[in-house]
Amino acid sequence: MNLKDLYINFFIEKGHKQIPSAPVVPENDPSVLFNTAGMQPLIPYLMGQTHPYGTRLCDYQKCIRTNDLDSIGDTTHHTFFEMLGNWSLGDYFKKESITWSFEFLTQVLQIPKERLAVTVFKGDETVPFDEESYTLWKSLGIQEDRIAKTVKDNFWIAGETGPCGPDTEIFYFRSEEEIPAVFDPEDDRWVEIWNNVFMQYYKDSEGKITELPKKNVDTGMGVERTTAILEGVNDNYASSIWKDVIDLISQISHLPYEGNEKSMRIIADHLRTAVFISADPSGIKPCNTDQGYILRRLIRRAIRHAKRLNIDINSNWEEQIATLILKKYQPYYQELIDNSTTVVEVLKAEKEKFNRTLEKGLKEFEKVTKNQKTIDGTTAFRLYDTFGFPIELTIELASEIGLTVDEEGFRERFKKHQELSRTASQGKFKGGLAGNSEIETKYHTATHLLNAALKNVVGPTVHQKGSNITSERMRFDFSCDHKLSEEEKQQVEKLVNDWIQEGIDVTVQEMKKEEAIASGAECMFIEKYPDIVTVYSIGDISKELCGGPHVKNTSVLGKFKIIKEEASSAGVRRIKAILEEM
Ligand code: ALA
Repeated sequence: MNLKDLYINFFIEKGHKQIPSAPVVPENDPSVLFNTAGMQPLIPYLMGQTHPYGTRLCDYQKCIRTNDLDSIGDTTHHTFFEMLGNWSLGDYFKKESITWSFEFLTQVLQIPKERLAVTVFKGDETVPFDEESYTLWKSLGIQEDRIAKTVKDNFWIAGETGPCGPDTEIFYFRSEEEIPAVFDPEDDRWVEIWNNVFMQYYKDSEGKITELPKKNVDTGMGVERTTAILEGVNDNYASSIWKDVIDLISQISHLPYEGNEKSMRIIADHLRTAVFISADPSGIKPCNTDQGYILRRLIRRAIRHAKRLNIDINSNWEEQIATLILKKYQPYYQELIDNSTTVVEVLKAEKEKFNRTLEKGLKEFEKVTKNQKTIDGTTAFRLYDTFGFPIELTIELASEIGLTVDEEGFRERFKKHQELSRTASQGKFKGGLAGNSEIETKYHTATHLLNAALKNVVGPTVHQKGSNITSERMRFDFSCDHKLSEEEKQQVEKLVNDWIQEGIDVTVQEMKKEEAIASGAECMFIEKYPDIVTVYSIGDISKELCGGPHVKNTSVLGKFKIIKEEASSAGVRRIKAILEEM
């Protein structure tokens, strides 16, 4: 049995319910492009909301981290990875959490306890020494010298404010050498495999820490790293998770892994992430904004490295690799079964698009870099605009021959070119190349109207659980314990259309977050917003914290029509709706 199955079975035996992995694109959280940790989709529940599956949860969560894309190609970094987690929502606390982690590692995975060491929180001016965890580890037979009391990395919080607490990290000695008697967390032969966070505090925007009424446990264990350790390999890509993918790339390119590690790892890593993004129910396609831009960059970078391995780009190499990845993960992720054709089509279409200009672009790159030390912004922009080179690709190509790129010049040039909408994906992604079309702006406003209409018709217990807008339709998830009746749907539609007909002004105000909340503005995750927020009001019908953009008056929206109402998850319904021209 593999690590995922062993882990889930173990925690089910300890009374946990397995929850499905949330989509890679967060449905409720506009502040990040992708889920980066198992706890992210659970934030509302860690804050006190009741989870429909109960108080003991476990899962494997699809995570994507793109902040250190440049590190991909080494032995340990991945853009996509799976995180195992178990949670207590006001249920068990340190004793059970630590005891079960120890039991899983030493009895199920059969790791000798001599190879384990832990860190516990040493205490600082606001939070005391975590003596309880220290004593628990000792009672389980971890020698005092293998329990390091530290401050660094031993306090966990997602962002600036919110639920938080001391954590205890578990390390494994990954080396043939003799295990040192005293554990030094800075010695990189010790690798962290599991993090148990004891969320017993809440940190507010002034940095004040108070006890939470409910104490939670949040844990995270990386599947890739732990699998490599269990299999005794120092290169993650030599573990069973990757070996067959690397072998296939080697076979396609007729080149050995040795000597070509970097390109092969990049291809394997980027295509796996591209498979998961394009199979995600969020329906992301390669484009020049947000998640779609990351997808584009990943595919294009994989193509560039395939070219470097002399792979015939026009063959179906990417399909072969994607098919193998799909097959490996299909037993765990239904969306990889449902959307396998889409995945292959997305990769192929993006490849063909990039292929049309890649060759010429590389020639152009050679030409413009001859006898140069830097690539100016205008040239970088031309490579982007005419040859489809993401700026990051130009930077990578340049650094390989010792050149720098005037990134700022590129961005200025880019900004001039683009009719950027005011708030386009602000802060979400460095350089966010985003715009909102007129129709998407209309859907934004219609979403607020729908939210208000549902509260009116179904009741005040309706709360937004997620939303997604494309130029074709809007999608809205909300808390509701029943399927909407025909009558309810009609009432909601009528109410929204009445408001559209009334031609109500949409106004925007900036205010302090606390003031906004006090004035009754709706929001999903208060802790996720900056201190100064924008609040959009539609007459006295709706008031919501929102980054916009919105139309100025509801009269321009057209005719609102619900096209589908269905279950999204337990206690959450989903409405898909469109705006038709009048
Ligand atoms: N949320 C914790 C982490 O990501 C478990 O390390």
